[in-house]
Amino acid sequence: MSAAVLTPPVIEARVGRTVAAPVLSMLGVCKGFGSGVTRNEVLSNINLNVREGEFLAVVGFSGSGKSTFMKLLAGLETPDRGELLMEGKPVQGPSPDRGLVFQNYSLLPWLTVRGNIALSVNSVFRSWSKGERRDHVEKFIEMVGLTHAAHRRPHELSGGMRQRVSLARTLAMKPKILLLDEPLSALDAMTRSVLQEEILKIWEEERQTCVMITNDVDEAILVADRIVPLNPGPNASLGPTFTVGLDRPRRASELNHDTTFKGLRNAVTNYLVAVRQKTRDDEESLSTAPLIELPDLQPRSLSLPRKSILNATT
Ligand SMILES: Nc1ncnc2c1ncn2[C@@H]1O[C@H](COP(=O)(O)OP(=O)(O)OP(=O)(O)O)[C@@H](O)[C@H]1O
Ligand SMILES: [Mg+2]
Repeated sequence: MSAAVLTPPVIEARVGRTVAAPVLSMLGVCKGFGSGVTRNEVLSNINLNVREGEFLAVVGFSGSGKSTFMKLLAGLETPDRGELLMEGKPVQGPSPDRGLVFQNYSLLPWLTVRGNIALSVNSVFRSWSKGERRDHVEKFIEMVGLTHAAHRRPHELSGGMRQRVSLARTLAMKPKILLLDEPLSALDAMTRSVLQEEILKIWEEERQTCVMITNDVDEAILVADRIVPLNPGPNASLGPTFTVGLDRPRRASELNHDTTFKGLRNAVTNYLVAVRQKTRDDEESLSTAPLIELPDLQPRSLSLPRKSILNATT
């Protein structure tokens, strides 16, 4: 594969006509887990500027380090090397400014749907009246289509319903930056497309900065201004930026026939296929590499005559 296939030009994201300031930056970030022989280097030299008001999608293969990348942005993990900045200041830990929708929902099992969402709303909007907070909670429950299940606890919900609660909880906190870790992966195709449009609608109204992880290229093109692939790990790094120049508002039903959409889908998919093949080839060449040739040494016998051993111990 030629290097050009893997390194198309990086194009700056434009929000409106001007290039917006980076609100979140990763500078040479590396992250691994464990130590010694069990050490797993997950992310290597990640450099990224997320610009104010943009929608950035990160696509990648399972296990490549996407959730680790997201937890770093949320401040739930700290980089081993490199820097993570929000509005130019080092990220010290999690903050309501960066709302994360977890891949595994992370709901409180003893609270109902309403209770889970209300807990976050009450902690962020303390100055609001009780009535305002209640209406706000109900609005987001309705938005994700769970009014009928608002009294249920997480164990009484399907995976997709839990994911919707998790999404509503984070959206309701109105964070400056929305971090979505595969927020729609547990949903059936119909619900997924409804919520894709819902996320888009909210984003188009609010223009919050948004970073979304997805393994669905079509979904990435539908929602994002820019798509950045995360190359397969270990030592996963970011691939080239693909700019999505499609007009907004976007509707999935209309995009399917759009030539720009189809071209972009091919470009991103071809990149992902190529980079995965390259990783496989590299792994294969490592496993078939000739063994290091050892010098032809004859070991000396270290066993002492029996008599000497006996002498030494008596
Ligand atoms: N806290 C941790 N301790 C040790 N290893 C971890 C930890 N978190 C993640 N890993 C490892 O890091 C690698 C990447 O995990 P991560 O969850 O970031 O991948 P992912 O791309 O989100 O995967 P998926 O697509 O399945 O969600 C995996 O090998 C995983 O086992
Ligand atoms: Mg993940």
